[in-house]
Amino acid sequence: MLFRAAHWAYCHRIEVLSVLLNSLNIALHGCEISWQARIGQGLTIFHPVGIVIGDCEAGDNLCLGNGVTIGNRDKRQIDGRENPRIGNNVVINAGAVVIGPITLGNNVTVAPNAVVIDDVEDGIVVGGVPARPLTRRNPEKRASSRLELATVAEIAAKCRI
Ligand SMILES: CC(C)(COP(=O)(O)OP(=O)(O)OC[C@H]1O[C@@H](n2cnc3c(N)ncnc32)[C@H](O)[C@@H]1OP(=O)(O)O)[C@@H](O)C(=O)NCCC(=O)NCCS
Repeated sequence: MLFRAAHWAYCHRIEVLSVLLNSLNIALHGCEISWQARIGQGLTIFHPVGIVIGDCEAGDNLCLGNGVTIGNRDKRQIDGRENPRIGNNVVINAGAVVIGPITLGNNVTVAPNAVVIDDVEDGIVVGGVPARPLTRRNPEKRASSRLELATVAEIAAKCRI
């Protein structure tokens, strides 16, 4: 809510209020989200501690774990954009770092502690450093976890912050 209020103040050119609300978010929750970030509806933050988000663009139902970083990488740019562009229904798990002017498609899941520096196509689960698509030794396990990931997206859709 503090991020939404700070973004509202930014859109209405009340930058002092944006700075104050952002500082309050850091003080209360240990969570820093740039007031210039453009994030769709249904933002869900399970544990806000340690989250740092720059001027990214994200679609609806973004789910974030604790300690997630989304930001620029060595100031490299694509079309004047330094920060990631993130699709709908994306889950970024605890400690993951998503950096640079990359694009994450819809329904992407980022594993804990991954460092994502390349584009990710729709529906892919990525992990590791640097992040690569995750595959399974036992593919039979996949059905149950896909169910869990679908549930996460459903929770986000209901929360609509
Ligand atoms: C990443 C995740 C979403 C993948 O779920 P999944 O599709 O069910 O896949 P699995 O967990 O079975 O993992 C698939 C493969 O990726 C590997 N993997 C899992 N998490 C990984 C990670 N963070 N980094 C690198 N590899 C990872 C697994 O070892 C497995 O490979 P294996 O079959 O050779 O052992 C899930 O493992 C996960 O970590 N969820 C988030 C949990 C979390 O953040 N909890 C914090 C709560 S506060």
